[in-house]
Amino acid sequence: MLWQAIDVHRPTLKYQDRAWDFRTADTKEFTHCFHAYPAMMIPQIARELLRRYGQKGGWLLDPYCGTGTSLVEASLFGMHSVGCDINPLVRLIATSKLTSASLPAVDHNVRKLHIAMSGVKRTVPTSTVPDITNLTFWFADGVIARLAFLRSLIRSIKDSASRNFTWVAFSETVRESSYTRKGEFKLYRLPPQRLKNFNPDVFAIFSKKLNRNRQGLAHYLAARKEVKANVVGLDSTQAILPSSANAYDLVITSPPYGDSQTTVAYGQYSRLSAEWIGLPQARKIDRLAMGGRRTTQQPHNSSLTPAIAQIAAIDAKRAEQVTAFYVDLERSIDSVATCLSPRATVCYIVGNRRVKGITLPTDEFVVSAFATHGFAHKHTIVRSIPNKRMPAKNSPSNIVGNTATTMHRENIVVCQRE
Ligand SMILES: C[S@@+](CC[C@H](N)C(=O)[O-])C[C@H]1O[C@@H](n2cnc3c(N)ncnc32)[C@H](O)[C@@H]1O
Repeated sequence: MLWQAIDVHRPTLKYQDRAWDFRTADTKEFTHCFHAYPAMMIPQIARELLRRYGQKGGWLLDPYCGTGTSLVEASLFGMHSVGCDINPLVRLIATSKLTSASLPAVDHNVRKLHIAMSGVKRTVPTSTVPDITNLTFWFADGVIARLAFLRSLIRSIKDSASRNFTWVAFSETVRESSYTRKGEFKLYRLPPQRLKNFNPDVFAIFSKKLNRNRQGLAHYLAARKEVKANVVGLDSTQAILPSSANAYDLVITSPPYGDSQTTVAYGQYSRLSAEWIGLPQARKIDRLAMGGRRTTQQPHNSSLTPAIAQIAAIDAKRAEQVTAFYVDLERSIDSVATCLSPRATVCYIVGNRRVKGITLPTDEFVVSAFATHGFAHKHTIVRSIPNKRMPAKNSPSNIVGNTATTMHRENIVVCQRE
């Protein structure tokens, strides 16, 4: 069956639609191929939402833009966009994916990198190694020398679009050539038996990323429309979001599922790359993220009160962490709602995660929070996640190997101002 009502009382409002699974879709077209990141939105979701609710020449906002999937799609569709994220690494990636760079300039700088790499014979020229916590725990000596060499070459690139482009390929190279376990969000080292045979070819990895991303960039530059796109480092729970020329007409976003401690540790995922590149706050992102700070407040919206009370009866500390996240999510929705146009549409892609066996209906929370700002619930489409870039398991605690199955479904919540 392609279409199935989920809520029998309101069958037209919440339904599963298999067409939104995009099972066989190519999720790496254009600049979407640039860099992996946990829990990325797939471009096809943003594309279809733009097709339905977008306005050419209007403004789109993504208050948790990550690597910029919805912003790239807005540029391809013909909407101006603004994205916010507290993580400097993803802002660098998103900015690079949205570039209007000159391809010949990028090619010229990439060619110089290839020539420099091919000039290295046995000994790698000595380059400054940045201050990275536990450097030799995460990288072999030969890898450190090569990464430092690449880093010094990239830092000397004058054209900022070319430099960002190469930083993005460098960032994935750092991750792939480190001793981290690649299937985890958190920083865990490879087990000793795998370390012995781990001998990554740093230059080959980097070249491969550059070539792949160059192809994606060429497709993107040929297809993007002449629109503005900005990526800003704002905390969307606190800031008054940057206003566009007019108020925003459309929001397409996927907020975090919960606090970074117990769900997706975006900061840990980004940390080594961010330290190598020299980005600020490399070790602080998870504390700055939604739900990262303790609070004595409660969300005003009571749609989660019963679920949180059930969790509190089992584990009071977990209930506090969950509460802190939803207080932030509500604050962020208040902040977003203030800068939307009178006829705006908001599309939130959220998962209803389970804590202590109790499901948290985040989709209903989003609907109620926007209702207080005059938004009506249009519908919630439930989709399976066949190709979301998340491992099938994640670690809900900090204990290696202590895993739980992640969500297999997510909800696309659409509300419109009446
Ligand atoms: C699910 S990811 C977004 C992924 C994105 N849609 C993509 O395709 O790459 C959620 C993002 O929210 C960001 N984030 C967490 N707390 C935030 C806050 N208070 N303000 C802005 N961004 C925040 C995280 O850094 C993370 O990049």
